[in-house]
Amino acid sequence: MDLFEVSNHNNHSKMNLENIATALKDGIFTVTINRPSKLNALNIKTMDEIEEVMDHVYDNPDIKGVIITGSGTKAFVAGADISEFAGMNPISARKFSERGQEVFASIDNCHKPVIAAVNGFALGGGCELAMACHFRIASDNAKMGLPEVSLGIIPGYGGTQRLSILVGKGKAFEMTMTGDMIDANEAHRIGLVNHVVPQEELVAKAEKIMKKIMSRSPAAIGQLIACVHAAGSTTGYQTEANAFGNCCKTEDFKEGTSAFMEKRKPNFTGK
Ligand code: COA
Repeated sequence: MDLFEVSNHNNHSKMNLENIATALKDGIFTVTINRPSKLNALNIKTMDEIEEVMDHVYDNPDIKGVIITGSGTKAFVAGADISEFAGMNPISARKFSERGQEVFASIDNCHKPVIAAVNGFALGGGCELAMACHFRIASDNAKMGLPEVSLGIIPGYGGTQRLSILVGKGKAFEMTMTGDMIDANEAHRIGLVNHVVPQEELVAKAEKIMKKIMSRSPAAIGQLIACVHAAGSTTGYQTEANAFGNCCKTEDFKEGTSAFMEKRKPNFTGK
């Protein structure tokens, strides 16, 4: 089976998905956007399914971490589905944007780690999806960009905000004003992705990092996700202090400190 070939058989859950394939193995939940004939473009149905999948991630204690990728070897996600743009008016377009922002916020705000494995084109809504993940790993053929101005629109799923935070306003202005794609090495250079690897090693690299994260305290990781999100806000330091306090109430804290003193590996439960 090809590395990125996926089946839509979601027999481990009650989800009924058409455009997303999922697989749960050893606590890692792999979510594959699966419309390869349309380069995995995000139509409304796929956005609904991402929401359903994220609900499942929040609720299922067997899921410890999430990897989001695209099916095939060409595209992660080539954007929102442009064929659905026709007929939008200012009110429906605003709702479309708010809905996308809400769905992607459920990824960004997830208390479990979410990594994007960017396996090709990540354009428009696809780049925004990758940016909604906690961090990104790219294959060497990846191309990323926010080309919306060439369609007479702008990014609407959080892209103007997240890109500015990730790469700074100057680079974000250039990328969004020109609409140019950047390659994986440039994305790495500007901090949009953390690692670039050959495509056949992409999932393995994401899994390796995820396994390391999963060996740490899930309770602490949930707290730190909220803290990193609060960076730059007026309440960031207070959020950190509160979260530090919250950690000390957990069994993971007792286990982690005891294991260190007893010179053994901790066995975290996330409680
Ligand atoms: N929405 C809807 N369909 C899309 C799509 C999108 N964002 N991106 C690609 N597709 C479809 C194409 O229409 C084509 O479908 P068809 O075979 O039924 O005609 C199929 O996916 C393959 O794409 P194609 O353009 O033929 O591939 P390519 O290799 O020539 O070009 C891209 C690849 C990514 C450069 C090109 O597809 C593209 O520019 N896509 C749009 C990117 C974009 O503007 N995204 C932002 C949207 S907000």
